[in-house]
Amino acid sequence: MEEQGFFYRDTWAEVDLDRIKANVKAIREHLPEDVEFIAVVKANAYGHGDSQTAEAALEAGASMLAVAFMDEALALRKKGISAPILVLGASRAEDVNIAAEEGIILTVFQEEWLAKACDVLSKDASISLHIKIDTGMGRIGIRSADELKSIEKLIKEDSRLELHGIYTHFATADEMDDTYFKRQLSKFKDMLTTLDKQPPVVHSSNSAAALMHADARFNAVRVGIAMYGLAPSMEIAPELPVELQEAFSLHSRLVHVKKLEKGEKVSYGATYEAAEDIWVGTLPIGYADGWIRRLQGQEVLVDGKRSPIIGRICMDQCMVKLPYEVRAGEIATLIGEQGEETISINEIANKLETINYEVPCIISSRVPRLYKQDGKVVELNNSLL
Ligand SMILES: Cc1ncc(COP(=O)(O)O)c(C=O)c1O
Repeated sequence: MEEQGFFYRDTWAEVDLDRIKANVKAIREHLPEDVEFIAVVKANAYGHGDSQTAEAALEAGASMLAVAFMDEALALRKKGISAPILVLGASRAEDVNIAAEEGIILTVFQEEWLAKACDVLSKDASISLHIKIDTGMGRIGIRSADELKSIEKLIKEDSRLELHGIYTHFATADEMDDTYFKRQLSKFKDMLTTLDKQPPVVHSSNSAAALMHADARFNAVRVGIAMYGLAPSMEIAPELPVELQEAFSLHSRLVHVKKLEKGEKVSYGATYEAAEDIWVGTLPIGYADGWIRRLQGQEVLVDGKRSPIIGRICMDQCMVKLPYEVRAGEIATLIGEQGEETISINEIANKLETINYEVPCIISSRVPRLYKQDGKVVELNNSLL
């Protein structure tokens, strides 16, 4: 296998960059041509790898990136990404000069924040800003027209500041009932009318709204989950107008295969007892990799067959019941396709009673990421070495 020699433990994640590009293109095709695509690559691109995803998205038609914190934006700059980057979360006003130096766009979410940032900003520096309106998410953002007006005035009067954008974020865009969504959209439109002049970039839509609500696109959309090939919710999954392909898969290899006799036990607590003679394989992946203990009982694919995890998941290893004797060294697919079978991220999310967003995010940085393009490994990122 191509990946050998780059890391020394037989567990890795694969990120299919072609699928990320195909998803970006499919979403772009669904949008009017003049709507900008802001690729949301926060949280290490939802666990997929920040710079690799950013590059793929930019190549496929994204024109801007968005992250949660300044550290994430700086990490992208360090990796040579020169595209515009918007920090969606609250940055410290004291750090405004670093953002200015690196050409990072910050979010203005409070008048006091802006006043403090202006005090701190060097005389000869300049910075681009997006104003965040809180229309009902209750997280960060400006809540009144008066505050918005004061902020617009402050920005206009200070030549170091450029008002590049304004945005809001929906709380329920991934639900079929659009009552609350419409209320938020209407509040955002009202707030826009109080501005003397609209900035060049106006945006409100996450993946769900970008795909389901043509009336909320303005001139840019912020797309995260759909770019990774995942539906924003199970409720709207059947209604999505584009076909998405999951880009993230997770693999390991059987490092030890043995026969257990009826009555023999497996793992901590000795809670699993073989009801008959069985073949058991050990995988070098455990809860420290994000393959958490609640995944006990989840199936993995070995030789194209579903094989359940038996006994408690350990920190670095877990055991699976094999369908028959399988050679040590065989690949076990924990997420992804093998033969006719697929284990989707949604299947894992269901097992964990959570949302698909969480699954690639929790696969820890200890798991090396292999990047594939045109069916070949083009890059490997092992955070340990
Ligand atoms: C402010 C903001 N915009 C856009 C997104 C992207 O959302 P999604 O991944 O649902 O497309 C997020 C993600 O949580 C966000 O917090």
